[in-house]
Amino acid sequence: MKSISFNPFPVLKTERLTLRQLSIDDDKEIFLLRSDMEVNKYIDRDPCGTIEEARKFIQKITEFVDQNNGIYWAITLENNNLVGTICMFNFSYEISQAEIGYELLPTFQGQGIMHEAITKVIEYGIHNMGLKSIEGFTHIENLPSSKLLEKCNFKKQEQKDSNSNELFVLYKLSTV
Ligand SMILES: CC(C)(COP(=O)(O)OP(=O)(O)OC[C@H]1O[C@@H](n2cnc3c(N)ncnc32)[C@H](O)[C@@H]1OP(=O)(O)O)[C@@H](O)C(=O)NCCC(=O)NCCS
Repeated sequence: MKSISFNPFPVLKTERLTLRQLSIDDDKEIFLLRSDMEVNKYIDRDPCGTIEEARKFIQKITEFVDQNNGIYWAITLENNNLVGTICMFNFSYEISQAEIGYELLPTFQGQGIMHEAITKVIEYGIHNMGLKSIEGFTHIENLPSSKLLEKCNFKKQEQKDSNSNELFVLYKLSTV
């Protein structure tokens, strides 16, 4: 895995989408995303309670990316409004591996948007970051997420670690 710098920020484009840097102007959409019960249903986190919390989250992510500890994109359609996010984090340099996470506002789900976004992000991870594998954890009942990963050639892993949470399944994409 190459030594990584996300400066300048890697804006990615697909047929319908622009994946761009998160901005403080995304506070309303980040609040909606992180407070939505449907989006949060299978994600192990406390829901966002106020717009101020959303702003703090954006600041935290901005620092995280500035320090090259992870990469976090706002997924946008043609009007530049954030409809979801996709990120890679937990970098393991020794084995050239990262973990992936993603979420979409409910109105935009089921239209192939995340498939389009994740395909581009995987391509960036392999070609620009030198990743050899990407992991994704998903709740056992999160069918849309499992189907998305399987469609992108992630394989379900047997977790033998007794510390692992039985409610979450590990998927892995390997290039070797
Ligand atoms: C998981 C999630 C990102 C999927 O994004 P999406 O844009 O709706 O997914 P896509 O439209 O690209 O669909 C990808 C595949 O998933 C499947 N899928 C999507 N929505 C589905 C649903 N509601 N039920 C069953 N399968 C579904 C489709 O089969 C599709 O494959 P196909 O084109 O062969 O039919 C979205 O449902 C979401 O944001 N969920 C809430 C947040 C979340 O759970 N994030 C994951 C945490 S690990």
